[in-house]
Amino acid sequence: MIQTVEPAKKLAGKLELPPDKSISHRAALFASIASEKSIIRNYSSAADPQSTLECLAGLGVSIKKNGSTVEIDGIGRDGFNTPRAPLNCGNSGTTMRLLAGIAAGAGIECELIGDESLSSRTMKRIIDPLAQMGCRIDADRGEYAPLKIGAHRGVKGILFPLPIASAQLKSCVLLAGLFGDDPTEVIEQKFSRDHTERLLDLKTEPYGTGKIIRSSRGDKIPAQNYAVPGDFSAAAFWLVAAAIFDDASIELKNTGMNPSRIAALTVLDEMGAGIIRKNHRDEGKEPVADLVAGPAELKGIELDSALVPNCIDELPILMVAMCFADGQSIITGAEELRHKETDRLAAMAEILTLAGADIELKQDGIIINGSRDFIPKPAAYPTWHDHRMAMASAVLAARSSGVSKIKDAECTAISYPEFWQHLQELNQ
Ligand code: S3P
Repeated sequence: MIQTVEPAKKLAGKLELPPDKSISHRAALFASIASEKSIIRNYSSAADPQSTLECLAGLGVSIKKNGSTVEIDGIGRDGFNTPRAPLNCGNSGTTMRLLAGIAAGAGIECELIGDESLSSRTMKRIIDPLAQMGCRIDADRGEYAPLKIGAHRGVKGILFPLPIASAQLKSCVLLAGLFGDDPTEVIEQKFSRDHTERLLDLKTEPYGTGKIIRSSRGDKIPAQNYAVPGDFSAAAFWLVAAAIFDDASIELKNTGMNPSRIAALTVLDEMGAGIIRKNHRDEGKEPVADLVAGPAELKGIELDSALVPNCIDELPILMVAMCFADGQSIITGAEELRHKETDRLAAMAEILTLAGADIELKQDGIIINGSRDFIPKPAAYPTWHDHRMAMASAVLAARSSGVSKIKDAECTAISYPEFWQHLQELNQ
């Protein structure tokens, strides 16, 4: 589908954000390996978390849906059935990598498949530690889906210093570790999102300047009532949109505020966005707040590369903000963006160039020479079927001087099915 985006006059209103994608996946996976019933409120209807539910159903987990409430009868660590058909992870890296940790740990013979984008993303990062743990896992050319998982004789605990800041890799290894008698210890020096250790109450201790997280068969996996907060990664599109529109005022209710996810707030604050946080509270084990954003006189920033893992999914829309900021902005240490649903560094460089921005693409980042007078040129934006490319282009398009088109616009449903409707609702 091609979505036409007209220049918006004013963006204003209150939004209920889509439920957090990362937390939805984890709630469903962890509820499945608990031994009693869990209830998940506000489960995401987006395509990726729905892929996780379908895979779990394929493994014999009983799942009842009632609107956005999902009831899962946990079948315990050893209760999975051998699926009759391949488990389809769709476009979802989190589904494939976390489920591989559980299925390989449990030694369930199964095949994990994905769409074209997911099948071209390397899985070597999870295959290596899983093989070290004694799991059986084969992949196309040693690194790509389909992943074929086999039965084995028990999981060996390993000491695993994370070679990259990746919550998917960290979670995969810790989840496989839950099936080993001896503890698996994961050492993290650059902190990525911590939903897995938080929701599973895994033992975590400081370790030098980093932390060490342990998992083993001895860890109880509690059945829980989960309440999924609004997705901060979705909020980021509106925080930036509000900053770059005169007279904007956008209120985002119930936004997930996990400190390991919200570095984009720190970055936007430093750029001068002045976002208001109110009603701080906890939803289950995750902090939430309401955010109010409005127009800002943005200034360029050299983004601290230590923050990159905590705003990895927000970097594309932060790049959009940087185009409207006075002076130069620099992002470094972000090579991981090249391994997402598409090569997001190359893709954003193309999108920003189409909009007429002054940018220079680097191997691990980008330099953006912004201006508060920047007016994006209307364009036909490609998306590479990547939801975040579509939404970042839409914000640019809404602020541009003429009518733009966004290709394959339906891909926003991967994380944010209501995105186009929300854009329309805010446009007054
Ligand atoms: C996710 C972790 C991140 C992120 C992805 C979701 C998760 O990937 O980009 O959208 O839920 O664990 P990496 O951990 O591979 O960086």
